[in-house]
Amino acid sequence: MSEIEDQIRRRRTFAIISHPDAGKTTLTEKFLLYGGAINLAGSVKGKATARHAVSDWMEIEKQRGISVTSSVLQFEYGGYCINILDTPGHQDFSEDTYRTLMAADSAVMVIDASKGVEAQTRKLFKVCVMRRIPIFTFINKMDRDANDSFDLLDEIEKELGIATCPVNWPIGSGKGFKGVYDREQKAVITYSDTEKGTREGLSQVLPLSREEELRAGIGDEAADKLLEELELLDGAGAGFDLEAVRRGELTPVFFGSALTNFGVEIFLRHFLQMATPPLPRKSDKGPVDPAAAGFSAFVFKIQANMNRAHRDRVAFMRICSGRFDASMEVRHVQGGRILRLSQPQQIMADERKILSEAYAGDIIGVFDPGIFSIGDTLCMPKEEFCYEGIPTFAPEHFARVRQVDTMKRKQFIKGVEQIAQEGAIQIFQEFNTGMEEIIVGVVGVLQFDVLRFRLEKEYNVEIRLENLPYEHIRWIENWDQVDVERLTGTSDMKKVRDLKGNPLLLFVNPWSVGMTLERNKGLVLSEFGRN
Ligand code: G4P
Repeated sequence: MSEIEDQIRRRRTFAIISHPDAGKTTLTEKFLLYGGAINLAGSVKGKATARHAVSDWMEIEKQRGISVTSSVLQFEYGGYCINILDTPGHQDFSEDTYRTLMAADSAVMVIDASKGVEAQTRKLFKVCVMRRIPIFTFINKMDRDANDSFDLLDEIEKELGIATCPVNWPIGSGKGFKGVYDREQKAVITYSDTEKGTREGLSQVLPLSREEELRAGIGDEAADKLLEELELLDGAGAGFDLEAVRRGELTPVFFGSALTNFGVEIFLRHFLQMATPPLPRKSDKGPVDPAAAGFSAFVFKIQANMNRAHRDRVAFMRICSGRFDASMEVRHVQGGRILRLSQPQQIMADERKILSEAYAGDIIGVFDPGIFSIGDTLCMPKEEFCYEGIPTFAPEHFARVRQVDTMKRKQFIKGVEQIAQEGAIQIFQEFNTGMEEIIVGVVGVLQFDVLRFRLEKEYNVEIRLENLPYEHIRWIENWDQVDVERLTGTSDMKKVRDLKGNPLLLFVNPWSVGMTLERNKGLVLSEFGRN
């Protein structure tokens, strides 16, 4: 195997998705602990400091005490090179989270055992399904009173429409949490409430075959319940099928407690074996093999003002094939130029490391003088192809935006367009009157504040926002076959265009979407926009 093949095969690139507070940050910290990236429990920063350390770059974050940005963490464990794409934890910033999923090869879904499937998980899950990437479920906080385990599996299956296969099974929860049964090892691993943050605690491994020891270890009542549940599980649940996992049709489920560090290393070990290394990605010239092809990548995220002192922009790209080295020339396909990527770096927690090389599966951030857009492809100079675009995700809040000082129209348009190009907001125009009126759509309302803040600070433009009642946006898939002018919807429906002129419909509620579809036979609407 060549060195490049070897490097790519050992890479695992995944995103962690969850509803805020389910334990994503805690679980990520524990992963890093195993990878040796954080040496001592004491150095694992508290939530508040850790979050700020990761992305202490925008004043608004500080003011609100939340994290707007995503970061990428890389560490080594058991011969694997792992890239974790951390995603903004706050509900309001899920559009970047969506895009981050486009750069991941698999997803880890963290669910709070006492809450089950929550709103944000549901939304992010849809994107994983669209991409058919493997999804691994970690049901967290078993050290607290949890919902019934069968009910939790049922809920995942019904709400998310994916089959589940528990890899381990919990014995009790909360004060009565005794540990988990590992179905592969056919043994119980007992729970011990270790000092938080240290490596896995002093658990015992009690094989099912030695029933007496097992009963002595977890008590008769827990043992009886476990035996009964295992019988049910073996009879009812879907069998484990690695191929179904890799197609995104079956999710392996693990139970544990990130805070007390129970079940985390088992999860990590299984996950690394089951998840795939970078696989071929679709492009307009067919699938591109990660190991056989030369360097290629696509931009999935652009972040402005990473460094306030320099007012710079960083374009984050996911390497899809080959090896990148900092001295090489690459083709920026959409820009039609050959260039050298400037200051390639890996953004790791609060530090940025200048990179000399990276491989398919890795994420790099490069200095962007304003030439890159989300979805752009980079490849070897002698090649020319484009990766499939990143869809535009449906905003859920809309507002009409005007500049207060009419003399500043130019700066206003420039600023709004620039911020839209970075993907922080989406802009729309009235269907017939064009750019005279600008409608801004965002996934989370906080992005309106970001827009206001940035226009003031960076473009010296004050704006007025008038909220609009729409919450549902639909792209018209077959717009070339539909006379949009004559389309009849409900009275609250609004027709708009995006920057490329594509027609879209805005609705106040899902009922109107249904009515419009009913009134216009043959109309095809989509929740994701094309690029
Ligand atoms: P998030 O990134 O998904 O938003 O969640 P995060 O890890 O920040 O965890 C949210 C809260 O849940 C934190 O408590 C964290 O300590 C707690 N937590 C995470 N995993 C577990 C677990 O396995 N068991 C229990 N009992 N709690 C867990 P907090 O009080 O909000 O923050 P902190 O002050 O403890 O950091």
